[in-house]
Amino acid sequence: MNSVQLGKSDLTVSRLAYGCMRIAGTWNPKEITPEREANGRAALLAAYEAGYTLFDHADIYCAGGCESIHGRLLKDSPELRRQTILATKCGIRFGDDKSPHRFDFSKEHILWSVDQSLERLGVEQIDLYQLHRPDVLMEPAEVAEAFEILHRQGKVKWFGVSNFFPNQYDLLAQFVPFPLVVNQLEMHLGYLDPFVNGTTDQCQARQVTPLAWSPLGGGWLGAGGKVPEGDKREKILEVLDVHAAKYGVSRTVMSLAWLMRHPSGIIPIVGSANPVNIADAAKADGIHLERDDWYRIYISARGRGLP
Ligand SMILES: NC(=O)c1ccc[n+]([C@@H]2O[C@H](COP(=O)([O-])OP(=O)(O)OC[C@H]3O[C@@H](n4cnc5c(N)ncnc54)[C@H](OP(=O)(O)O)[C@@H]3O)[C@@H](O)[C@H]2O)c1
Repeated sequence: MNSVQLGKSDLTVSRLAYGCMRIAGTWNPKEITPEREANGRAALLAAYEAGYTLFDHADIYCAGGCESIHGRLLKDSPELRRQTILATKCGIRFGDDKSPHRFDFSKEHILWSVDQSLERLGVEQIDLYQLHRPDVLMEPAEVAEAFEILHRQGKVKWFGVSNFFPNQYDLLAQFVPFPLVVNQLEMHLGYLDPFVNGTTDQCQARQVTPLAWSPLGGGWLGAGGKVPEGDKREKILEVLDVHAAKYGVSRTVMSLAWLMRHPSGIIPIVGSANPVNIADAAKADGIHLERDDWYRIYISARGRGLP
């Protein structure tokens, strides 16, 4: 797979990233059976085999279980660490008897979360650490202090954000003394907002790499994916399939190549846990859509013509 520079960092990563949210096959770490562990490993190995080098995690994926599966694989096959740019996140805290579901960018929580992730992944350093969802109570100076400590301690190499609007990115960037190199966003043919609300423009202007989460909309935009009969998204699938046939690729590849054609340099985070689908998605690297084709697909997704 081709590689690209991640934002203003010195990290070189694969043109598509692999998302580890589904590798445990459950959100409950107590349910990680040997069979689920083996499936998770098979998914990760398929991603390495297909040339993915950027692996995206979060502390909340299976309550740390996804990081642990990857950590155990890296322990057994330490040579894989050299082929791995490890990304993870914190900031979402699930509710329990005592507390509501909430976001938390406090210094204490960020420092604690990094230590937990390092432990689960079994590594000395996280390559890219992202804040998962904007904390309405964010104190940017406090976040900057946490980032500086983590950087000084060598625990985190680079930082980024996720689901940030441009104003939220700018607010934090004013306080952090090094570049925030990614903004991880929901982006796919069923969700076009970042293209028109200034987010991808900001990424281009500031040399921030947009990472697209759920690039297949959670599955319906993939080969074999379906929407209910009569759903207006049927039109998108129809147009995608025509173009997939024209380029001789699967619908999955067409959906991903459409995102990758955007000049902001979007890196889709492929979320399949199926080795065949993981390898197929990697073929989107190298497919360059003609302008007319890109617009035909865009118009089908807008659901109305352009002015
Ligand atoms: N920052 C955030 O807020 C945020 C939120 C959500 C996700 N993420 C990140 O984004 C990554 C990707 O998200 P996602 O898993 O929702 O992405 P996705 O690629 O849109 O969806 C993956 C799902 O689609 C299914 N699928 C059905 N047909 C497929 C096909 N032909 N090819 C590939 N997949 C097909 C997969 O099933 P199979 O496994 O059976 O292939 C899987 O369940 C996550 O792993 C995580 O790293 C970030």
